[in-house]
Amino acid sequence: MDVRDELRELASAVRAWAEWQAECGAEALPTVSHPADVLASLERKPAARGPGRAAPRQAPAPAPAARAPAIAQAAPPPFAVAPAAATTTVSASPPAPPAAAASAAMPAPGPALTGEARRNHLAVLADTVKACTRCGLHASRKQTVFSRGNPDAELCFIGEGPGADEDAQGLPFVGKAGQLLDKMIAGMGLKQDDVYIANCVKCRPPNNRVPEPSEMASCVPYLQEQLEVIRPRVIVALGGTAVRGLLGPTDGITKIRGKWRLYRASIPVMPTFHPAYVLRQPTKEVRAMVWSDLQQVLKELGRPVPTRGS
Ligand code: URA
Repeated sequence: MDVRDELRELASAVRAWAEWQAECGAEALPTVSHPADVLASLERKPAARGPGRAAPRQAPAPAPAARAPAIAQAAPPPFAVAPAAATTTVSASPPAPPAAAASAAMPAPGPALTGEARRNHLAVLADTVKACTRCGLHASRKQTVFSRGNPDAELCFIGEGPGADEDAQGLPFVGKAGQLLDKMIAGMGLKQDDVYIANCVKCRPPNNRVPEPSEMASCVPYLQEQLEVIRPRVIVALGGTAVRGLLGPTDGITKIRGKWRLYRASIPVMPTFHPAYVLRQPTKEVRAMVWSDLQQVLKELGRPVPTRGS
């Protein structure tokens, strides 16, 4: 990347980060514990990622229950469970009936993919999604919305489904909610390249309605396969639909936000409010709750946590 582009990207990230910090109630710029952290955050090398990330991912993250006893085990999602072997792609043909799928045992994960194999697998899956007609949403879509960000990222943000802007651009979270999500990411001291973003459903529900259970059942296996390929260290579930897509039926988002859950008994999930909700309820309290959830995520990743007003 050209140095000027890089500086421009850096300046915009710092601006977004400062705005989000201010919106969360910070009264001064956060301190960074050591200049090495600044240098590390400017580098794109994997070594700059937090502890536990230095070695390439050959296996799923260690069972976080040992590190964070508060993490609750969730029931497997009631949707058709994608084959866990990372070399198998979900078919675009009609899904198994949800009732039958609900009783499917969770298979053991296959070998982890890395680098090019991971990208190739996701490219094939994205093409499958493009051709998908498994549910009625395909009829009204402009295009499918698969993902944005870095497939090698250790952090995934999962939303509900595309809105009008996403449907038009073919990328998740590019509208108003996406702009706030970008601010949140920058506020965490992360770059776009540090995260992978996707949705439970890949086609826009008409009038931005919540996806129907049958639409979730058709589409969530694609998300499951994305996550199987990426194997992030932490997932942030944005809103109640994302939580249900990842974990199955649970309490409402207000009750469970801020409390660690486990995806497929191995990956910590932090449920938090959807950015669209934060935009609708832009109170200091709501923002502070989201910020506290994101701080927990940074701690889990072993990343520096920007401090408030210190
Ligand atoms: N809301 C979502 O849940 N996902 C998007 O991609 C955009 C808005």
